[in-house]
This record gives sequence, C-alpha cells and structure tokens, in this order.
Amino acid sequence: MKETLNFALIGHMFMGRAHSHALNDVGMFMKDLKIRPVLKTICGIGDGLEDTKERFHWEKSETDWHKVMSDPEIDVVSIAVPGFLHKEIAVEAARNGKHILCEKPLARDYTEALAMFQAANENNVLHMVNFNYRRIPAVALAKQMIEEGQLGEIVSYKGFYQQDWALSGAPMSWRYKSEMVGKGPLEMGIHITDMAQWLVGGITEVVSVMDTVVKERGTADGGTDVVTNDDNTVWLAKFENGVMGIFEASRAHMGRKNFQWFEVNGTKGSLRFELERMNELNVYLSNDGEDRRGFRNIIVTEEMHKYIKNWWPAGHMLGWEHTVLHQYYEFLKAVEGEYMPRPSFEDGMKAQRVLDAVVRSAEEKRWVAIAEIKGREEPGIRR
Ligand SMILES: NC(=O)c1ccc[n+]([C@@H]2O[C@H](COP(=O)([O-])OP(=O)(O)OC[C@H]3O[C@@H](n4cnc5c(N)ncnc54)[C@H](O)[C@@H]3O)[C@@H](O)[C@H]2O)c1
Repeated sequence: MKETLNFALIGHMFMGRAHSHALNDVGMFMKDLKIRPVLKTICGIGDGLEDTKERFHWEKSETDWHKVMSDPEIDVVSIAVPGFLHKEIAVEAARNGKHILCEKPLARDYTEALAMFQAANENNVLHMVNFNYRRIPAVALAKQMIEEGQLGEIVSYKGFYQQDWALSGAPMSWRYKSEMVGKGPLEMGIHITDMAQWLVGGITEVVSVMDTVVKERGTADGGTDVVTNDDNTVWLAKFENGVMGIFEASRAHMGRKNFQWFEVNGTKGSLRFELERMNELNVYLSNDGEDRRGFRNIIVTEEMHKYIKNWWPAGHMLGWEHTVLHQYYEFLKAVEGEYMPRPSFEDGMKAQRVLDAVVRSAEEKRWVAIAEIKGREEPGIRR
C-alpha cells in the first residue's frame, strides 16, 4: 500500500481553506491513519491564491485546472469551486484515473450528477461528496440511536437550514445565478436532503413552494442584475418507509447564521440536533421513568463518541472545521481499505434527484414523485 497520497485542490477560498486545513491536520490527529496526504497543488483564480498556498503549505499553485488533471503526480483531486464547474472537472479527473472528493451539491442538477457518477465508476476511481455534516459526533450518535431502534418506529422528520446572507445587500455573485449553481434550494437544501435520507430513508415524493425575496442585486459596474434562483424553499416529503417530512432551506431568514437543525420523532422517543450547538444532542426517551421523562441534553464529547478519542478530554468542544477534517479521515480510510467511501457520488446524485423534484413541484404546483425525474437526455448518459 502507498504511504502517501498526492492531493490537488481546485478552489482556494472559503471551502478551499477548509479543505486545506483538513489536509494539513488530519494525519496529526487521526492516529490510526497509515496513509499520509501530501499537499501538492492548489488551483484557483483571483486574489489570495499565493496566500492560501503559503499559509496552508501547498507545494505549488496553478490557475488552469486542466493542467492539474493531466499531472501524473496527482492521485486525488478535491473540488471546492462553484457548482457549474463540478461536472467538467470531476469527469476529467476520473478520465485521468484520479480519485475525487467533490463539494456539495455534486452538480447543478440530476443529469450532471449522473454523468459524474458514471464517469467515476467507468474509470474505477473512488469518489466522495462532501456532506460534511454527517461527520459530527452528535449526528453520528443520532444515527446510532435511530438504527438501534431507541426511538421506535420513525413517524416524522423535520429538516431546516436557515441563513440570512441574502439579506445583507451583497452584490451579485455566482451564488445567485441558477446557471452557476442550479435552480432551487441546492446550496443549502442539499445538506438537509442528504441528512434526512441518510438518517431515515429514501424520499419518494415531494410538494414545494419557492420564493426569491431579493430579486435584483448590484453589479461591479454600478448596474443591477436579476437573481435567477430562490432565496426560500419549503417542501413536504413522503419517505419510502411511511415517514412524513417537513423541510425548509432559506438564505433570507434574518438573524439565522448557520442554523441547520433536524428533529426525528419516533413512537418511543424523539431527538433534535442544531448545528450552532453542534456538540449537543437533545433526546427524549419514553422508557425513562414516568416521573422524570423530558428532553435531556447530551454533550457528545465523551471518549466513546465517534471521532472524539482523537481529540480532547470530555467537554472540550469541537468546531465546524472538524466536519471537513473527519470527512477527509473517512476518505483516506477508504483509500487505505480500497473500498468506496460514503457519502459517495451515488448519495450526492440521490439528493440531487430529490431537489430536481422539489424544483419541478414548485414550477408545476403539484406533488412530484422522485421516479419522475429522469434528467435531460444527453449523449453518453445511461439511465
Ligand atoms: N460543505 C460545506 O459546508 C460547504 C460550505 C460552503 C460552500 N460549499 C461548496 O463549496 C463550493 C465552493 O464554495 P465556496 O464558498 O468555497 O466559494 P468561493 O467563492 O469562496 O470560492 C470559489 C473558488 O473557486 C475558484 N474558481 C472559480 N472559478 C475557477 C476556475 N475556472 N478555475 C479554478 N478555480 C476557480 C476560485 O478561485 C475560488 O477559490 C461550492 O460548491 C459550494 O456549494 C460547501
């Protein structure tokens, strides 16, 4: 087995820094890792590329991502650029035999996600999508409790992701253009969709409404430009196992910063998680003594909780950056063990299909079955 794995990262800003940090630190803390990531090439355009290269100890920088794909030294390509570039880069990386860790949402729509999944499989590369919120110890505990049946039969799921940056008056950027990131609630809605399907099961049908609150934004030349994706989306979902779900993704809820939360209600208990209190899990179990039943708050930082033994003593809290580091840990373990990491492109594609249905439902004002979503007809894509 190789002792080192050479990484190239496409994207050097917000998530580029999070990926760079994770790659630097993952081997320091995750002591059972046998393979060591080597930070070879950071690729990006615009200000700050050299700064990110220096601060995060990348060996070299590059502005043309095509050159990175044909570099025989690179084993893994991480993708942290806007969604409109994901497919092109991932397909090219796969053709060049490189493993891929791609940011969410996998692509702009189901068709593109399907093409990425196929290209990765046809070229036998390992692939992962960065649904990093799966990697929070409190979320892992929630998953474990559901799987152990401690909540009984699950009847209801609520998944919300609320932020307020669309109300900040910020100028036009790729985040407000459907041609850059897809229609609908993709940027945030994809996280809560994956979380729901991972925790509870596959979604089969949705009905939704979407709204764009701030319809125009200023441009660098002093003009304005039209926002072509939504600020707020609300949807109901039916799951294959009969669970009913309520979802909301919004970037225009004043006062909400990174307020992602879910609640799972079962016949024997309920649990609730909030990202802004990410070390905690709120749990109610009906088999507690009748005189002391109530929601209890578990601080999920004990040695037996997932990932924690690699970090600090109990109560010494983890932060957001650990979610990405844990994702790299899972990715590197999969390379070591030569198995497909999860969440893979398949998981990314399944979440994308649900959100294509959410968009169609809002446009056509009706319930849409996920099975109706076939994607666009494109050459080379098998369905
Ligand atoms: N997993 C998460 O928690 C999370 C959080 C935020 C964003 N994201 C995702 O990460 C991705 C990047 O988002 P961000 O917030 O870091 O964006 P950003 O605007 O901060 O950075 C975008 C990066 O893309 C690079 N880029 C753009 N065009 C390029 C090109 N042609 N060639 C090379 N590089 C190019 C830029 O240089 C920049 O480094 C998006 O897919 C987004 O949805 C994920």
